[in-house]
Amino acid sequence: MKKTLVLTVDSQQPDTEKIAVAATIIKKGGLVAFPTETVYGLGADALNGKAVMALFEAKKRPLDNPPIVHVCDLNDVYRLTQNVSEEAERLMKTFWPGPLTLIFRRSKIVPDVTVAGLDTIAIRIPRHNVALELIRKSGCPIAAPSANLAGKPSPTSAKHVLDDLDGRVDAVLDAGPTHIGVESTVLDLTIDPPQILRPGGTPYEALLNAIEKVELNPVVVADRALPIEKARSPGTKHKHYAPNADMVLVEGEVEVVPRKVKELVRLYRAKGRRVGVLGTDETVRNYTADVVKSMGSRSDLAGVARNLFRLLREFDAEGVEVIIAESVQMKGLGLAVMNRLRKASGYKIIKANT
Ligand code: TXA
Ligand code: MG
Repeated sequence: MKKTLVLTVDSQQPDTEKIAVAATIIKKGGLVAFPTETVYGLGADALNGKAVMALFEAKKRPLDNPPIVHVCDLNDVYRLTQNVSEEAERLMKTFWPGPLTLIFRRSKIVPDVTVAGLDTIAIRIPRHNVALELIRKSGCPIAAPSANLAGKPSPTSAKHVLDDLDGRVDAVLDAGPTHIGVESTVLDLTIDPPQILRPGGTPYEALLNAIEKVELNPVVVADRALPIEKARSPGTKHKHYAPNADMVLVEGEVEVVPRKVKELVRLYRAKGRRVGVLGTDETVRNYTADVVKSMGSRSDLAGVARNLFRLLREFDAEGVEVIIAESVQMKGLGLAVMNRLRKASGYKIIKANT
């Protein structure tokens, strides 16, 4: 067990001395959790194989699932990859810094462990002053998966990071809650047409506006577990985002969902389970259960995305054994929200119909 240093910084104008402390840890091969606009990441020097190995160990992450490499300027992208297409350049110009991760063919300078032995690499420039200052001061690209124990919901605050990783990492930069709340969109540019491997903070619709053709990997919209060969993104084949509680997701129109949710609450309570409901502002007043929470308004899917992972962790903290969750529309950030809810439920999905 090591002592994890907590460095509290302002999210807009972070204290340069504290960033310098964190950067020194990264340069020496240590592990620092830091905020991005999406979720907190757990960073290590991406070009130091030993440091990246320690990162996998701290998270208990399977070695076949590579992290995203975070950079602060485009020169790094050219160094880390083999070729950057015009389309890639357009995407970087439009969406960076921001919640879009691009998959390229990787160059030789990248250690095998950083890309889990693949010949491709995932890269993004985050839109967060703390992350950007940390990368700049460290003077290296930073490999950073989400800063949670493997399989748990991603952390949207430093408290979540410490709940999972206190004593397992060297430091946490605490700049308050993250703004987007779900991870970046992962777009594979090594196939034609480009394919979204994980829906996230950059909506599908925004990508469709920027480039000619974008496809959704079947895993992104699946409402059941698909065979592993369909998973181009290694991460998608592992259990993910799961609270300790069992979760059932009720899908259907808002007019019919509450009835089904209430029925399930009764069913599980009759079995003596402690039941939580994850509803929306429009529906929560319908529910009586051990714990009832709202994801936010159905008309504000960005707000729902921001709240989601925190709420899943709160249900666990409140000892809920079964979560009955509502679904939201699969548009904008709703696509990412639904993908996370479905995975968190282990695809235990019930369709409510009229
Ligand atoms: O918003 C985010 O993306 C956050 C913050 C910290 O930047 N990071 C994050 O990293 O979510 P992580 O490691 O938890 O998720 C990375 C995803 C995984 O699904 C992984 O399988 C996929 O990206 N990935 C990484 N390298 C890949 C590659 N070469 N080819 C395909 N998928 C890749
Ligand atoms: Mg993750």
